[in-house]
Amino acid sequence: MNQNLHDTIFFYKFVPLHNNQKHEIMIQERESFSSKFGIIAAAAGSAIGLGNIWRFPYLAGENGGGAFLIVYLIAILAIGIPAMLSELIIGRKARSNPYRAFKSLAPKQAWFIIGIMGIGAAFLILAFYTTVAGWTLEYIFVSASNGLAGKSTTDLNTMFDGFISSDIRPVLWQLLFMFLTAFIVLGGIQKGIEKASKILMPVLFVIVILLIIRSLSLPNASKGLSFFFNADFSKMNADVIVQAIGQAAFSLSIGMGTMITYGSYIKKHENLTSTAIQVSITDTLFAILAGVMIFPAVFAYGFQPNEGPDLVFKVLPVIFQQMSGGYFFGLAFFILLSIAALTSTISVLEVVVAYFSEEFKITRKKATLYSSILISIFGVFCTLSFGSLSDVTIFNLTIFGLFEYTSANILLPLGALFIVLFIGWKLGKSFIKNQLNNEGSLKSPFANTLIFMIKFIVPLALTVVFMYQLGLIKL
Ligand code: PHE
Repeated sequence: MNQNLHDTIFFYKFVPLHNNQKHEIMIQERESFSSKFGIIAAAAGSAIGLGNIWRFPYLAGENGGGAFLIVYLIAILAIGIPAMLSELIIGRKARSNPYRAFKSLAPKQAWFIIGIMGIGAAFLILAFYTTVAGWTLEYIFVSASNGLAGKSTTDLNTMFDGFISSDIRPVLWQLLFMFLTAFIVLGGIQKGIEKASKILMPVLFVIVILLIIRSLSLPNASKGLSFFFNADFSKMNADVIVQAIGQAAFSLSIGMGTMITYGSYIKKHENLTSTAIQVSITDTLFAILAGVMIFPAVFAYGFQPNEGPDLVFKVLPVIFQQMSGGYFFGLAFFILLSIAALTSTISVLEVVVAYFSEEFKITRKKATLYSSILISIFGVFCTLSFGSLSDVTIFNLTIFGLFEYTSANILLPLGALFIVLFIGWKLGKSFIKNQLNNEGSLKSPFANTLIFMIKFIVPLALTVVFMYQLGLIKL
């Protein structure tokens, strides 16, 4: 039998029998993360992703640099940390996928819809995310075969536009990326997700530090730094605030059950408050590191930071092929992007796999296979929306744009809102307290502040965001 027997949590289910007695039968063993480092690596791995390196810099670039950073930091503190903690609490308490978690904590009530919404969001996120992740694989391949060298800015732009609008290559890369994701998830929690995260996360930090050193050694690097750290509030408006809150939710992987699912693999004695804080700090630090890596390079070569989503794929290759050592640094950058993406996609796929395997009582293998195939279908539409399907627009957005906007700016903040309402008002203060202090065995000095934020601040802020988005209020 398993040598970690005492660590293994058994799952019981009540089965009504004919004589109306309830009998417990053991239906499955549930895995858990093996160590605190494993938890942090996996959860920070989920949080750190394309959101930090691709999305955050272009949003900051478009929205006033340092001013965006300040609003973003406030959003992480006031909304992100309490919301992440709420998810971890729900997950660890219920020890199940998000759908089942709401069902078991609030039986016979409609809260489980939050779980369903999360599964939906997982589909949308994985679909558009693997499109971009696929591009990173192409760029690893192109950089490794020295395909960026000697090309002019126009050549490189044409190359990128030609690549993303073609029908076959980007789809193949996307499917390969989905395959890598599924491969890790197939390994389960300890041998798949935790192991991969423990190896990949340190690599990620080493690469980003190397790239920062190179970037800061470029002439005029300080211009980039001052753009990033000096606040230009002239660009500040309600839209920017909404974007910053959406980005905070997206970057921390909250609002769709990723942290509920990972929380369900956390053991009873772990300190959830410190976990949520450490993960949020690591993620935020990484977003700042990404800015410190990218903006000096952008300014050193005379580019504008407000290039939008194409920033890392169009502008950075130009920079790499002009700088000395560019072959090496370009390759390292795209490896960085794809690793960051991979530790995030596994967390999203795990949400769907946990749901399928637990709710339909199928093996992890089958659940992984079915969900990857289903999600890939959505994904291919996203990828093709840069090519043959570029004319298909809904609300003026391409399929890719629609998936990105709906998930980051609507589903995640809405999910986060319902999750904090659920825990703050449905489960209530003493429930939260008990979870924060592990039934009295831990000190939790911030408990009251956190509970106040979960009950009042987060719901208020997120409600205002929605009323604004729906045009119900003007700011
Ligand atoms: N946090 C990831 C990133 O910043 C994206 C993500 C969102 C992952 C939601 C899981 C859930 O790239």
